[in-house]
Amino acid sequence: MNSKTYKIAVLAGDGIGPEVMTEAKKVLDVISQKFSLNFTLTEKLVGGAAIDSVGEPLPADTLSCCEDSDAILFGSVGGEQWNQLPPEKRPEVGALLPLRKHFDLFANIRPAGVIDLLASSSPLKSEIIGKGFSFTVVRELTGDVYFGEKKLESEFGSDEMIYRREEVERIARVAFGLAQKSSRKKVTNVDKSNVLATSQFWRKIVEEVHAKEFPEIELEHLYIDNATMQILVRPQNFDIFLTGNLFGDILSDEAAQISGSIGMQASASINSEKFGLYEPMGGSAPDIAGKGIANPIAQIGSVAMMLEITFAELEAASAIKKAILKTLEDGLRTSDIFTNPEGEKKVSTSEMGDAVVKNILT
Ligand code: IPM
Ligand code: MN
Repeated sequence: MNSKTYKIAVLAGDGIGPEVMTEAKKVLDVISQKFSLNFTLTEKLVGGAAIDSVGEPLPADTLSCCEDSDAILFGSVGGEQWNQLPPEKRPEVGALLPLRKHFDLFANIRPAGVIDLLASSSPLKSEIIGKGFSFTVVRELTGDVYFGEKKLESEFGSDEMIYRREEVERIARVAFGLAQKSSRKKVTNVDKSNVLATSQFWRKIVEEVHAKEFPEIELEHLYIDNATMQILVRPQNFDIFLTGNLFGDILSDEAAQISGSIGMQASASINSEKFGLYEPMGGSAPDIAGKGIANPIAQIGSVAMMLEITFAELEAASAIKKAILKTLEDGLRTSDIFTNPEGEKKVSTSEMGDAVVKNILT
């Protein structure tokens, strides 16, 4: 009998964060019963909630709790009331970027896709969606213009775009490693090497890692501008995207959008020890916060990713994924994915969470 204990820092944040986190905690609770796992959850302030209470988006106490934990379960941060602050003091940039850098969370894994069942909630035409699609964006998360030298002067502004060999090698290995485990075994590298030296260097290193370590994987290259077009017209052609921080930011939002609802998409940001921060791809959605209508699936899916990647509790992770699928098959829909009153039932955040819980237990 397994009775491991996992320490989780729970940072619910702002907007819908706390509501969807409540559902994720219900799921952790039943998973611990069903699989005899112990989870110690410690809740801490982050983002706007932390600014309002202690004056900064990532308090030292929150950071040290994360250091003492085995993984971070993150909700979402941000809201109109903090937008007048300078960027580095705002909830998003002031909390997320330092967390990524502090824990060296260089690999951002953002699965995207739409299943047959939800195809009608994607903005793509049904001829294109067909029976659905699924691919994963692997985005480098601790380099690029995000962390290069910044200058903000009265007559110019600049952000240094830079990638070093080791940074490209390690993210390329993550992408090729995922491709090895997939059935299609294909990596699409996305860069802008027709213009940028950073991208020429990036592509060269990706090709080296491919040739030396993963020759059995199919590798193709697309420029970022073309890639954003191609995923709208042939989403089925892609398996694993490999890209840098800035291009990955853009590509993954587009991927989430064509997946139907951003409320469905979970993501992982991990380091080389597989320590990770797990969060929904969507934001804090202040417009619907407090109404009990947010889709909790992205947050619950983040729990599944945490169990799979950081804790290697594969059975527990797959139980969650199956329960989510069963809940959708049963026709339950939060308003973001509700399209058809026949055969679908519009439910609240907590009804959706409760149904997933029930399906884990049965
Ligand atoms: C994301 C977000 C962040 C990013 C922002 C909030 C700093 O858009 O996680 O994709 O640009 O990385
Ligand atoms: Mn983004």
